[in-house]
Amino acid sequence: MVTLKQAFSLTEGATQVTTLFTETFGYAPTAVHSAPGRVNVIGEHTDYNGGYALPMALPHRTYVAVAPRTDRLVRLISAQESGVREVSLDQVDTFDSANPVSGWPAYVVGVAWALEQAGYGPYMGLDIAVDSCVPFGAGLSSSAALECAVAAAWDTLQGGALLATDSGRAVLVNACVQAENQIAGAPTGGMDQAASLRCQAGHVIFLDCRDQTVQHLPFDLNSADLELLVVDTRAPHALVDGQYAARRQACETAASILGVALLVELPAGSYHELPAWQQLSAVQQARVRHVVTEIARTKEFASLLTEGAQTGNFDWERLGALMNASHESLRVDYEVTCPELDTMVEAARGAGALGARMTGGGFGGSAIALVHTKDVPAVTQAVTEAFAQAGFNEPHFLRAFPAEAAF
Ligand code: GLA
Repeated sequence: MVTLKQAFSLTEGATQVTTLFTETFGYAPTAVHSAPGRVNVIGEHTDYNGGYALPMALPHRTYVAVAPRTDRLVRLISAQESGVREVSLDQVDTFDSANPVSGWPAYVVGVAWALEQAGYGPYMGLDIAVDSCVPFGAGLSSSAALECAVAAAWDTLQGGALLATDSGRAVLVNACVQAENQIAGAPTGGMDQAASLRCQAGHVIFLDCRDQTVQHLPFDLNSADLELLVVDTRAPHALVDGQYAARRQACETAASILGVALLVELPAGSYHELPAWQQLSAVQQARVRHVVTEIARTKEFASLLTEGAQTGNFDWERLGALMNASHESLRVDYEVTCPELDTMVEAARGAGALGARMTGGGFGGSAIALVHTKDVPAVTQAVTEAFAQAGFNEPHFLRAFPAEAAF
């Protein structure tokens, strides 16, 4: 048996969350917003190094129905848990200072806090109902989807100026990242929020994480009879567990030893010839090697997509090979894969995938495979069987196409 996780249609999502709101609070919401989860096609653990990433928005979204209040209270209900929670916007404090706000409400109020810190607002409270078809803890950015849907709501209540332009959306991205880093305490790099707020349907974004510029590159798999299959391995996964922070710290230490502010500044061909290279431990060298080579792979992937869009000829074999090389680098040099991710990738490749790799932070979560449409059943079956044989949780599958950003 294969479990396919379908996305809500936009209408379903909006209707469900409106009903939840009305039944909970006894009146109708004034607006509904939604924001997508993401898959990163390539460019992993590059964002906090000032590098490049190539994410796309998933059709799987988080929906919020909201109505403004006249005080600073936020009342929250989620379809994924029972009971109404209450938090005041004046209670929000940074993660380190024994923040009284924790769990998913921290993402909601954290975004208003961050916008206020950046000089926007002040915001009034909200009644808010949340529903989502972005799998939780699957490395598909369910937290970014929540933050970005809420950012759309806060901004719209103030006239919607930020949401209306890409540069305004970049401001919202920063606020969501601040909420995640400072209020929820997850030291993530910003790729997820950029994808959720700045992608376009049918496209991946080529994101320059140093200057926050994006290029929208067409990613039309359908016309090439291809699919991007997402496999939620359902292995335990948590970003706040220290491993992610340790990788980020290792990069920052290595950058300072090598005399650069960010690893993206290293010369791609000769970084290992720098005099200070020998001062790095073998582990630090491996971490740097991953980042530098991953940035090069991501740039090549983007060039191949650009070239393909111009000529009509996409080198899918090479694109798949870059995905495979990315996974190997994450497995061997960055050490963020796990048996479930490696098993998925092996099984998918064995059943005919052009390329397969983990996506997101790693240590569990999801992997993706670029697959000819005709081979999708064989690949899903091979992965399901390999998981059963290894005694892993049953994997869940999502069919991904590049969807639209938050609105
Ligand atoms: C998580 C983080 C992102 C990024 C990826 C790895 O998804 O939230 O900022 O660092 O891991 O590429």
